[in-house]
Amino acid sequence: MIERMTKPRRLSRLVSVSAITSAALFLSSCGYVRDSENHPLTTLDPKGPQAQMIDDLSTPVFAVAGVVFVLIQALMIYLIVRYRRRPDDVDGVDEPTQIHGMDRLEWAWTITPAVILAGLAILNVQTIWKMEERNDPNMITVEIIGQQWWWEYRYDFDADGSVDVITANQMVIPEDTLVDLHIRSNDVIHSFWIPALNGKRDAVPGRTNRWLLQADDPGLYEGTCTEFCGLSHAYMRMEVKALDSADWEQWKSDQLEPANIPADPTPDDDSDDDAVLTGYKTFIANCASCHQLNGVDAGGEETDGTPDADYRGEDHPLTAGNAPNLTHLMSRNRYAGNLFSLWTTDSDGNYTDQVDTSTLGDWLRDPGALKPMAADANRGMPNLQLSEDQISSLVAFLSTLK
Ligand code: CUA
Repeated sequence: MIERMTKPRRLSRLVSVSAITSAALFLSSCGYVRDSENHPLTTLDPKGPQAQMIDDLSTPVFAVAGVVFVLIQALMIYLIVRYRRRPDDVDGVDEPTQIHGMDRLEWAWTITPAVILAGLAILNVQTIWKMEERNDPNMITVEIIGQQWWWEYRYDFDADGSVDVITANQMVIPEDTLVDLHIRSNDVIHSFWIPALNGKRDAVPGRTNRWLLQADDPGLYEGTCTEFCGLSHAYMRMEVKALDSADWEQWKSDQLEPANIPADPTPDDDSDDDAVLTGYKTFIANCASCHQLNGVDAGGEETDGTPDADYRGEDHPLTAGNAPNLTHLMSRNRYAGNLFSLWTTDSDGNYTDQVDTSTLGDWLRDPGALKPMAADANRGMPNLQLSEDQISSLVAFLSTLK
């Protein structure tokens, strides 16, 4: 008899203590991950109107779900404890009254959830419509192409149908301006996701998916590919850099310049042993068949300086048919799927104006050691078996591509 009284009490105390503990832990971790300084991929610290709309929807949905969860759990625990089987229960005698066929109760538990879900559906559909509004006269368009394993961005500033700028890894946008994304893929399905600015949108081969984002303030917003796309899926990062209008205009005019190619760029002139020029020649001989530099073609001949969207042509062996355009490599913070820094950072993690080439040599020596790729199957950067002299001159040349 005594045992019968204490066991359930101990049980219910255990249940309530663990419920309170887990709720407290959960709520405190919510506050913790709302800090986007230390958790760049948090969805809980929106930095643009689209992300804000999602947050404004998920908070009430979470509240409703929380109330339902607590009520159902409390009721369930009460019923489990109250109507548990006791040691002296007799089968068929000491059983609760069966209430099967209570119409009122059945109507209640059918209609209540239906009404709650219908209410949430209205809020959902409203938000989806609002998030698709393209009502900014200054809206710009960026074409995004998912590649194994990095992101390419194409800009057509004058909207004449020809690409003006091709970049990789870092997408630069003006602050406070709606950006209309046209997302495609060249190989497999990827998914574009900058959590501080909007939800995810898949990059699907053979179709163009539209998506919007906007950043309230200048800054860096990190993202990662969120659809499994092969070996380096987890290393397929990207970032959005939002600039104020003066910096944005400056960035545009810088990007429209052709690559900074060393003087006397004659590939077969060996008289000059300047490292940058040697690096340039090494680039044309080894890298230019995949990586584009605006202003020269793959053979080192001068061009008019505009990027060529079909640089490698349709029958190029690369699966994606593409490798990052390196014209203004050093205008970006990172390379190789936004993994490795090109600039040193200070103690707060902000980029300085000191070039950081500490990984570039390792990358050129054996890219597969830094990031898993399948270069044999034309996916990713191959090991070109470069000599140490070639590597150091290439690093010298690449660091001038500002
Ligand atoms: Cu691209 Cu995962």
